[in-house]
Amino acid sequence: MSMVNAFSREDFERLNEAERALIARREKVLGPAYRLFYEKPLHLVRGEGVFLYDTAGERYLDAYNNVASLGHCHPRVVEAITTQTAVLNTHTRYLHEGIVDYAETLTATFPDALSQAMFTCTGSEANDLAVRIARYVTGGAGIIATDLAYHGLTSAVAEFSPSLGESVTLGPHVRTVAAPDSYRHSPEEMMEKFGRDVRAAIADLKRHGIKPAMLITDTIFSSDGIFAGPKGFLKPAVDAIHEAGGLFVADEVQPGFGRTGEAMWGFERHGVAPDMVTIGKPMGNGYPMAGIVLRPEVIADFGPRARYFNTFGGNPIAAAAGKAVLDTIRIEGLQQNALEVGRHLMDGLRSLSHPAIGDVRGSGLFIGVEIVADPAAKRADAALTTRIVNGLRERRILISASGPNANILKIRPPLVFSRENADMLVDALGDVLKSR
Ligand SMILES: Cc1ncc(COP(=O)(O)O)c(C=O)c1O
Repeated sequence: MSMVNAFSREDFERLNEAERALIARREKVLGPAYRLFYEKPLHLVRGEGVFLYDTAGERYLDAYNNVASLGHCHPRVVEAITTQTAVLNTHTRYLHEGIVDYAETLTATFPDALSQAMFTCTGSEANDLAVRIARYVTGGAGIIATDLAYHGLTSAVAEFSPSLGESVTLGPHVRTVAAPDSYRHSPEEMMEKFGRDVRAAIADLKRHGIKPAMLITDTIFSSDGIFAGPKGFLKPAVDAIHEAGGLFVADEVQPGFGRTGEAMWGFERHGVAPDMVTIGKPMGNGYPMAGIVLRPEVIADFGPRARYFNTFGGNPIAAAAGKAVLDTIRIEGLQQNALEVGRHLMDGLRSLSHPAIGDVRGSGLFIGVEIVADPAAKRADAALTTRIVNGLRERRILISASGPNANILKIRPPLVFSRENADMLVDALGDVLKSR
């Protein structure tokens, strides 16, 4: 993925000897493809709730990690994983109560039509499987995604993940459309434009003899810059792909599992009916698990003919972790907490009333803050954005940045974030902006 918040070699000399030595060993053995966050990388050794701790025992407020969505090392998930690890770990080719129980609990959180689940280990695999199914069902090959989407790393999925950068070639059957931009367009324009752009992409595919297979969107457009509202803006685009005989795949890897506060799943906020929903990241609160929830009609023919097996996907430990996550979201009221604390945090960010803060947007605990050099012209300020991300890191608060102009602060804390945590973040941001 093109990296907005990354350590660069220029900062190497500013690090202490131990940090330099570990980075050198890491580069030597892991090679050149990996990136580290922050000008001064973090060396973390422990996590608990919303906090992370480094080698010196310093505590950092985590306002970024959406995998440990229930908080780092949540006791209920740790207990579920360790208990099941000590009993049995096999795969989905044996009968096991846990996996069926988990799939039933998971699908019950979806609208009735989305009643079957298939399990993978990563979100990339889930989207990869979604493409295979969509192509099989529709007989088409065309895929429509947004300009800066990230859907994963397999060969098939990288072909429609433009945020990987210009060196990663998009597939010839892929068309991209601009993500809806609530900062620069009115709600009506945004909704109309997105639908129109998807129709134009469908027409272009057909002109090139390519039948559309699917439209895929992250329902909060995370890597495109976080566009949550107004609710319902996805509808015309989803109608367009359905009219063209293609499927709509909602990528809920980032917004899913209650993060948007208003709904368990991001697509529900838009009142649309996906054919497949891909899920992952917070699904096991750190245990690697992902999957697809779909309409039975979509898989009815593909299933018997193509079969499906994934050695680790849906194993009994994953099922135990996933069940503990769903139980915790319900027991601790985390979707409601995301809604309330998210609103409180957005109010706090807006109350800073700083000219560099052009826009505060989001839903629940998925928030984007657009940093601008000139609020009237809405001109992006990527340099200040980098200074803010690193300034907060110096104040031991972790966020990151995204968007086409690298100027959108990405705030995505664990769902157990409290009002007090939110106030810490707002105060620190105010402090960074004052000291710039
Ligand atoms: C929206 C979205 N979809 C899919 C993926 C891929 O998930 P994974 O990294 O588990 O393969 C990501 C990962 O960042 C993502 O953000």
